[in-house]
Amino acid sequence: MTLKKNVLVTGGAGYIGSHTCIELLNSGYGVVVFDNFSNSYPETIRRIEKITGKSVILFRGDIRDQKSLEYSLERFGCSIVLHFAGLKAVSDSILRPLEYYDINVMGTLTLLRAMQAKGVEALVFSSSATVYGEPCTLPLTEDHSLTAINPYGRTKLIIEDMLRDFQASSPLMRIAILRYFNPVGAHESGLIGENPLGVPNNLMPIVAQVAVGLREVVNIWGSDYPTPDGTGIRDYIHVVDLAQGHLRALEVLERSEGLTVNLGTGVGYSVLEVIKAFSVASGRAIPYVLAPRRPGDVAVCFADPSRATTLLKWKAQRDLAAMCADTWRFQQANPKGLS
Ligand code: NAD
Ligand code: WQD
Repeated sequence: MTLKKNVLVTGGAGYIGSHTCIELLNSGYGVVVFDNFSNSYPETIRRIEKITGKSVILFRGDIRDQKSLEYSLERFGCSIVLHFAGLKAVSDSILRPLEYYDINVMGTLTLLRAMQAKGVEALVFSSSATVYGEPCTLPLTEDHSLTAINPYGRTKLIIEDMLRDFQASSPLMRIAILRYFNPVGAHESGLIGENPLGVPNNLMPIVAQVAVGLREVVNIWGSDYPTPDGTGIRDYIHVVDLAQGHLRALEVLERSEGLTVNLGTGVGYSVLEVIKAFSVASGRAIPYVLAPRRPGDVAVCFADPSRATTLLKWKAQRDLAAMCADTWRFQQANPKGLS
């Protein structure tokens, strides 16, 4: 195999970053993880190495520290950056917005300055379907209007605008903006997966914790939505499919100036359908109660993934059963998560 480039992966010890590191290593890239472990553990790096049989270079640092970023880019000869680091919980962003602006927006600005200083001209950024706000039309295409309905979403929107402005001013800069839908699932080894600190916000980790007995019941936030069973519908995407989408984006970025694509399956499932599928995958009953709607939630959200199919030649392969089975394998092997 020819030796590929070294990639700086900010937030590479986190949920999506760690799965992407595996795909990078398996494809021959050198991986430099830059993470401050505010929402992850070094143990994940050890497990990435175990799964791939390859070494990861680890730099413990904060993305708001330009000197550390510059040092890592230069010292390890990185010519591409995959930027996952940041804060991601909507409810938390309402409670402490300044942290979100600081880490997400200032952190990305600092990263761009470091890249500029070191002449690094390719970036893949983790955006989110949250930038579409309340869907006006479905499925969501990339040219749907952009808006934000909470501080977290606003940070993603500000960063996207900043990236577009930066790219327009720097002809050699190549930026991929990837808008994830609802990432779930885990690596099939059961060694790495989503490892939320404290009480999870998202549906799948909560369902998994109820199945394993860590939590008593799933609260279903809203059963009166205009959907077939009254519960909210989302486009859940297996994290390994998502990680593979990053690999395709990197390859396409080699020969294009930039791209913005949805990474979703195009298929929506309701909360009740997810609970039922998880119950089948785990062989466990999953108690739930119907509760009032959660403020800020939309009824239905799913992607039009056709631009990713055309531009990246990428399509999600794993179905809801696989998402649940892989989440369950990780949850069972690590009932209390990694530490
Ligand atoms: P995660 O919290 O598991 O991973 C983020 C990583 O970044 C962690 O390892 C954390 O320690 C690190 N980090 C945080 N602040 C840092 C800082 N200041 N300096 C250095 N490292 C720092 O989150 P994730 O689910 O893997 O999400 C990755 C990216 O994808 C985020 O930007 C998130 O907003 C975006 N995203 C996530 C989802 C989702 O549902 N998981 C959906 C859409 C977009
Ligand atoms: C999914 C469905 C809930 C928990 C969030 C962010 C989004 C993106 C992904 C980062 C909804 C229902 C949930 C529970 C429930 N993250 N639910 N009981 O809200 O679609 O998206 O994560 O970018 O920006 O907003 O994901 O997993 O929280 O919810 O009934 O205990 O499950 O109402 O219908 P969401 P989620």
